[in-house]
Amino acid sequence: MSNMEKTLSIVKPDAVERNLEGEIKEIFKNNGFQIIKEKKIQIEKSEAEKFYKVHETKPFYNDLCGYLSSGPIIVMILQKANAVKENRELMGATNPKDAHDGTIRKKYGISIDKNSVHGSDSVDNAKIEIDFFFKD
Ligand code: CMP
Repeated sequence: MSNMEKTLSIVKPDAVERNLEGEIKEIFKNNGFQIIKEKKIQIEKSEAEKFYKVHETKPFYNDLCGYLSSGPIIVMILQKANAVKENRELMGATNPKDAHDGTIRKKYGISIDKNSVHGSDSVDNAKIEIDFFFKD
């Protein structure tokens, strides 16, 4: 049974700055993800605050929003069976020091803030996050 899903992926400023966009996209493709849409953008801090609203009560919220808006990012819609879960597994733990070998954050992440990629954490949030960046 196929359970084709879409999820939102972001290549964060630390990875774009190190020119890792191409390598990270290859990892997604080699793991069976189709990149349905993608764009390179830089967002305002106020937009980052909307995007990360679920974290607004967290102590790291302000820095997180400052960081996501600090430089260009690549936003992508990824498609695969069980894409949300598969992407989270491929990204690895939020904190790169806890991420397993073979994951994107283990390979490229610098710190919990500069962890190179974001991925939607549920099917419901994937819809919300895809709409946020790709509502035409
Ligand atoms: P991301 O998957 O983009 O979702 C929220 C981000 O907050 C997370 O990746 C981390 O980069 C960042 N962050 C910073 N501090 C923390 C923390 N203590 N716990 C979870 N996420 C954190």
